[in-house]
Amino acid sequence: MNHYSRTIVIGAGAAGLFCAAELAKKCGQNVTILDSGKKTGRKILMSGGGFCNFTNLDVRPSHYLSQNPHFVKSALARFTQWDFISLVNEYGIAYHEKADGQLFCDNSAQDIVDLLEDQCKKGNVNIQLRQQIDGVERVENDSRVRFKVRANGADWACQNLVIATGGLSMPALGASPFGYKVAEQFAIPIIPPRASLVPFTYLENDKIFTALSGISLDVNVGFGNQAFRGDMLFTHRGLSGPAILQISNYWQPNESIRIDLLPNQSIVDFIMELKATSPNMLLKTVLSQLLPKRLVDLWIEYQRLAIGNKALAQISKADLQILDLLIHQWQFQPNGTEGYRTAEVTLGGVDTQYISSKTMQANNVLGLYFIGEVLDVTGWLGGYNFQWAWSSAYACARAI
Ligand code: FDA
Repeated sequence: MNHYSRTIVIGAGAAGLFCAAELAKKCGQNVTILDSGKKTGRKILMSGGGFCNFTNLDVRPSHYLSQNPHFVKSALARFTQWDFISLVNEYGIAYHEKADGQLFCDNSAQDIVDLLEDQCKKGNVNIQLRQQIDGVERVENDSRVRFKVRANGADWACQNLVIATGGLSMPALGASPFGYKVAEQFAIPIIPPRASLVPFTYLENDKIFTALSGISLDVNVGFGNQAFRGDMLFTHRGLSGPAILQISNYWQPNESIRIDLLPNQSIVDFIMELKATSPNMLLKTVLSQLLPKRLVDLWIEYQRLAIGNKALAQISKADLQILDLLIHQWQFQPNGTEGYRTAEVTLGGVDTQYISSKTMQANNVLGLYFIGEVLDVTGWLGGYNFQWAWSSAYACARAI
């Protein structure tokens, strides 16, 4: 059977749904979405612990990683967080701000999926789920039909093809390399993908920290000249929590991250003050006033810190210097990450040097567009990845 749709969007996630809705709304265009899953917006439903951190009050290009850091500027400026917030307000969706400008739904992430589905419905977008897509083919010398898509044994023809199939994270939610394969088919390079916004795993020697599983503390975590303040969680596999996920975007394999276990307090100043009043107090007792006791005991053993059992009066200047480094600049080398199974996003993707930042169209293929996470654009934790999905989808819809 043959079908025609002026625009076909592959992927009914955040970017695909929003792009289709905007296109249909803009000019009543005939738009079809094809998706392999049995429902739309599966990652949205899982996001933000089920409450979807749908954007951030403070969105800037510097919150994104890409080989071409300028790429995001145009799209983010043309459809901002305020534009998405006004759509959320229009639907009367209740939301609240958590830390650092992150906006979450009060009730459920389902509210955002309902909004997107309603927008699609208003524009008569044809959403086809459970579609097994066998391939995409280019049609030459026909201005009405530029591509053919074979799905579930049927042929679809279209003038514009939008690839919104996301990255590789969470294969259980339908993630696939489909978008990368389409790019490669049209000679568009891929920046090697890697799991990101993801927990780290322990090296063999660090597995003693599994005993601390469940302990969380406020830290400052750095790599190179990037650092994030926030919670770090010990798990039975490694380190997790918001600060760790953030730094995973920047970390390079086989390198160490820096962890400041006491970002609010200089350990040297604290000890110097106490030394005068409580010279007989043991160092480990002092540390236990500042950090969880179980962590202190294990950490002293791990760092082979003999001074842990010394009284403050016995602690020398040199000891203090070592302690300062170990507490404020703990060099922790991850074994690796938990990978795509738990990663929130994929670093890398379709090389943005080959895509127009104004329209999201491939520079070398008329009518072929890439939007959302399939592109080599990765946001920080905090609503930035959804904002990229909305902004890139909007830029594409305006251009078609
Ligand atoms: P997305 O992955 O959403 O959609 C891709 C669609 O393509 C899917 O529907 C998939 O089924 C379909 N597809 C893939 N391969 C296909 C194929 N071969 N054939 C047909 N269809 C195919 N971000 C944020 O800003 N705030 C947050 O709170 C969170 N929280 C969060 C939690 C978890 C658990 C995850 C995994 C991720 C997040 N994120 C997030 C990241 C965010 O979910 C992500 O960046 C966006 O969903 C990307 O939107 P896309 O539309 O590009 O891809």
